[in-house]
Amino acid sequence: MKPYKKLLLENKAWAQEMVAHDPDYFKRLAELQSPEFLWIGCSDSRVPADKITGTQPGEIFVHRNIANLVIHTDVNLLSVLDYAVNYLKVNHVIVCGHYGCGGVKAAMTNHDYNHLLNMWLRNIKDVYRLYEDELNNIADEEERTNRLVELNVKEQVMKLAKTSIIQRAWKNEKRPVLHGWVYGLKDGIINNLFDMPPGSAMNAIYKFDDL
Ligand code: CO
Repeated sequence: MKPYKKLLLENKAWAQEMVAHDPDYFKRLAELQSPEFLWIGCSDSRVPADKITGTQPGEIFVHRNIANLVIHTDVNLLSVLDYAVNYLKVNHVIVCGHYGCGGVKAAMTNHDYNHLLNMWLRNIKDVYRLYEDELNNIADEEERTNRLVELNVKEQVMKLAKTSIIQRAWKNEKRPVLHGWVYGLKDGIINNLFDMPPGSAMNAIYKFDDL
């Protein structure tokens, strides 16, 4: 059997199983989604947002890209953020990186990945530069990579807080809480790095005072 055909067969089996348990399952889901969470994670196939958090269809709104980056010119990510915050009214936005991230590893090399990937990975190199002193002091390469994974998540959460989308929701609706998480490929456990509740302090230059 061709590998992709297995996916379609599995899909049929899954749909039948869901209906067997709950005849109205799809009918109910088709009418409404009101997820509590927006997940911004890495595209890595080993980090499926719903599986590792035990969330069901309808519970988590997902955006994934290489190394879970929040880039202020990324129309895709910003549209997802805008929709999740202002229409779905999510109460939590989670940036979840993962230890051993291939994107972070690639950014730590000096290899030419050609134009597009170089451009994407440069955002991680910028994080490296910000924390160069700390990172250069870590002798073990795996440890250094994993620390950059954490710092990268922290910077991406900070980038969320810099948007008027988040600052306006914080001001008017006291939500969402921003979360920085890192998933461990080796043990399946999520490390809760830090939270940014509405109104959290940030560098003054990024704060809008006339929202
Ligand atoms: Co990754």
